[in-house]
Amino acid sequence: MSVQPGDIRDDDRRPPVDELLELAQRGLGLHPRRLPSWLFYDERGSQLFERICEQPEYYLTRCEIALMRAHADSIADTLGDEVRLVEYGSGNAQKTRILLQHLRAPVGYVPVDISPEPLRQSVGRLAGEFPQLPLQPLCADFSRPLRLPIPPRAPRRTVLYFPGSTIGNFETREAAALLRKMRNEMGNDGGILIGVDLKKDHALIDAAYNDRAGVTAAFTLNMLARLNREIGSDFVLSAFAHRAHYNPMAGRIETHIVSRRGQEVRVGRTRVAFGEGETIQVEYSYKYSLDEFAALAARAGLAVHRVWLDPAQMFSVQYLVRASAVTR
Ligand code: AVI
Repeated sequence: MSVQPGDIRDDDRRPPVDELLELAQRGLGLHPRRLPSWLFYDERGSQLFERICEQPEYYLTRCEIALMRAHADSIADTLGDEVRLVEYGSGNAQKTRILLQHLRAPVGYVPVDISPEPLRQSVGRLAGEFPQLPLQPLCADFSRPLRLPIPPRAPRRTVLYFPGSTIGNFETREAAALLRKMRNEMGNDGGILIGVDLKKDHALIDAAYNDRAGVTAAFTLNMLARLNREIGSDFVLSAFAHRAHYNPMAGRIETHIVSRRGQEVRVGRTRVAFGEGETIQVEYSYKYSLDEFAALAARAGLAVHRVWLDPAQMFSVQYLVRASAVTR
């Protein structure tokens, strides 16, 4: 079934310029200063993220793909026949392709992404390869309640696929709320197939967010370029630096944009003063032990039904179902 660009349902709720300006002013007025990580993902940011996934230090994508290749049959067995697959963040088609190649008689595939371009690309990549599979792309913010398209025929279950350990970019309370929202969307018999990065040697984690080629640094600073373009701020990118380090107490990578010198930046009508070394916190990437993630799932009324690990045991893919479904 071929999908035309016009077929993408657009529930896109990206903030208009005035809201973005207000959000930036508010975040930069906080102490410590803070901007949300979704601001990374304009078109250039999405391209840079794809390049991060190819960096030798960024083990997450490599390990998750190896895991999917090693366990695709077992994952397809667990999900069962006639699944409707809804992907949160249309992401790296490589993982999705492996899954779709192994699913039995899938009823449909619904990639959900806030940016239309990655959505178009992922649908374009898959449409030729899976001509029988109904594709129903949805341009929307997956962290808000979704209006899923009506499937072409009734699926046995809806499985929400959330690869890449993007759940790690949410703080614990938000992560639990997102999982709870997903629990509602998947229905009684549904499930969540989710990629979760695991705790490991701190140096390996640190390296993944500080690649030698500087792609992650460019990705981080692109947030300022986006603000300059969209709200007319005047950040000088060379006057800021990327800093990411693993905080073992919190179990997360903490990423900041650091001012290299004392400076003033115009953001709308306000001027924001930065001292040398002053930071803007822009991203957390939480790493979990299997027990910690099971406890998080339990807070959302979910139980871990199965866990698969990659051969190097760095990354996990987990299948979550309603906690009540386990005892049924
Ligand atoms: C999308 N997310 C899972 C990535 C991560 O690893 O937290 C985003 C990223 N930020 C820097 N490198 C990759």
